[in-house]
Amino acid sequence: MRVVSGIQPTGQPHLGNYLGAIRNYVKLQDDAVAAGGECLIFLADLHALSMPHDPKELYASTLELVATLVACGVDPNKAVLFNQAQVPAHSELQWLLNGTARMGWLNRMTQFKDKSGKNREGASIALFTYPVLQAADVLLYQATHVPVGEDQKQHLELARDIAQKFNKDFASEDAPVFTLPEPIIPPEAARIMSLRDGNAKMSKSDPSDMSRINLADDADEIMKKVKKAKTDPEPLPSEAKGLEGRAEAQNLVGIYAALADESMDQVLATFGGEGFGKFKPALGELLVETLAPIGERFRELKDDRESLDAILARGAAKARELGGPTLTATYDALGLVRGK
Ligand code: TRP
Repeated sequence: MRVVSGIQPTGQPHLGNYLGAIRNYVKLQDDAVAAGGECLIFLADLHALSMPHDPKELYASTLELVATLVACGVDPNKAVLFNQAQVPAHSELQWLLNGTARMGWLNRMTQFKDKSGKNREGASIALFTYPVLQAADVLLYQATHVPVGEDQKQHLELARDIAQKFNKDFASEDAPVFTLPEPIIPPEAARIMSLRDGNAKMSKSDPSDMSRINLADDADEIMKKVKKAKTDPEPLPSEAKGLEGRAEAQNLVGIYAALADESMDQVLATFGGEGFGKFKPALGELLVETLAPIGERFRELKDDRESLDAILARGAAKARELGGPTLTATYDALGLVRGK
């Protein structure tokens, strides 16, 4: 079992990142260790170049995200935690895979269409080839399992297509160069929505801070945001079925269920028939209970530049070691000679 996943170091991490991705990393790092495998979690700083970014802030946000991951329970002694920029093999392998990836495949990627919008001609080439770098990220380590959100499923399928074509074109059947990675998409709680609009994802790019719970928010901010969260006037139903067509109510019950590790039906068995006047304070308390210790550890760590640098340096050294053989096998398969 080899788990590999990346997360972009832009913007403030929020509850959606925690329930959709980070919490899952913590479980998977333990599973991987128990299975005698490895778990690699990296900060996708190279991917940040695909959109306008501020060079002065990139490393600071990278360190802030490392502090967040560790505060949430990612353990640098169990997982290999690093940033892409310290492992040149990611960039190298991407170039080598550019010969295998097809224009037609990339033209179908919905994230490129969404992010380039009406300005396709002005989009960066990095935004277009973003999924090839993502394929390199996982293929470099022979990843077997890749935890991602639903929105990244298409990129994982592309990684599989690239691996398959490369193996077919450049390797023999009994000695493939790349492993085909499986996506792992967390079932519930994968889609945490905005507190202001139950049909939009909770996002760091939403201009309203009231739309999201940041992992660094203190108890007062959390309670205030939950209290002001958009709802409807109806009481809660006694089963999840009754939430259909009530996006905001569904989102709040979903958050409660994810935090309590219960099903929505279980939550509604307790709160069915109650109004939001009763449910919101309970949700707020549960959020504070979960996030307060994370916030505390985060504040302890975030200014400890030396420890954070050291975590990344140690992770990068291990990642370079783990990725080395695959990079060499790829150069070899392509007939490229690097010398000694
Ligand atoms: N594209 C991913 C996202 O936006 C981040 C990412 C980059 C990633 N490389 C990856 C995720 C490799 C999984 C595996 O969420």
